[in-house]
Amino acid sequence: MLRQADLSDVPALYKIEKKCFGRRGFSKAHIIWTLKNPQGSTYLYYVDGHPVGTVMLRQEGEVGRVVSLGVLPGHRRQGIGAELMRQAEEFMRDKGARVMLLEVGVHNEAAIAFYERLGYETDGLLEGYYSWGEDACRMRKALPA
Ligand SMILES: CC(C)(COP(=O)(O)OP(=O)(O)OC[C@H]1O[C@@H](n2cnc3c(N)ncnc32)[C@H](O)[C@@H]1OP(=O)(O)O)[C@@H](O)C(=O)NCCC(=O)NCCS
Repeated sequence: MLRQADLSDVPALYKIEKKCFGRRGFSKAHIIWTLKNPQGSTYLYYVDGHPVGTVMLRQEGEVGRVVSLGVLPGHRRQGIGAELMRQAEEFMRDKGARVMLLEVGVHNEAAIAFYERLGYETDGLLEGYYSWGEDACRMRKALPA
């Protein structure tokens, strides 16, 4: 089950960020900022009443940007990430976005394989994109009209 997150979900979102990205995950303050951003939307995926995955989005005109995506390690390879992205694309398309854009670390082979499976294509390399110095691939997918 998927539902839109609000400020009461900050602890759950922070836990997922930490378990998925460690010290490189968003701070609580950044999560709160994201939730309060009028261009943003964040969803949580629940299994048996527990939040196990999240996608954070931001709309920039015709661009739907994936700000963060994570599924708890014990729940991966069960289609949850793909379902989060399916809903994210549908939501962004309904709001008028024509293309989805995201950045992913060049060493994050699992996530790159995941996005490629969903139809995303690499369209650029962003050198030193992350604060820890890693380069990022920019990936995109056109949304149907
Ligand atoms: C990337 C991530 C969100 C995928 O979530 P998930 O729920 O495991 O993904 P799904 O089960 O929906 O996978 C769909 C398909 O993507 C591909 N895929 C997913 N994980 C993969 C992996 N580790 N290696 C290779 N392909 C993978 C597979 O084709 C998979 O289909 P299959 O299981 O039938 O083979 C999850 O691994 C994660 O949270 N990683 C850590 C955080 C992260 O890197 N986020 C993205 C940063 S931009």
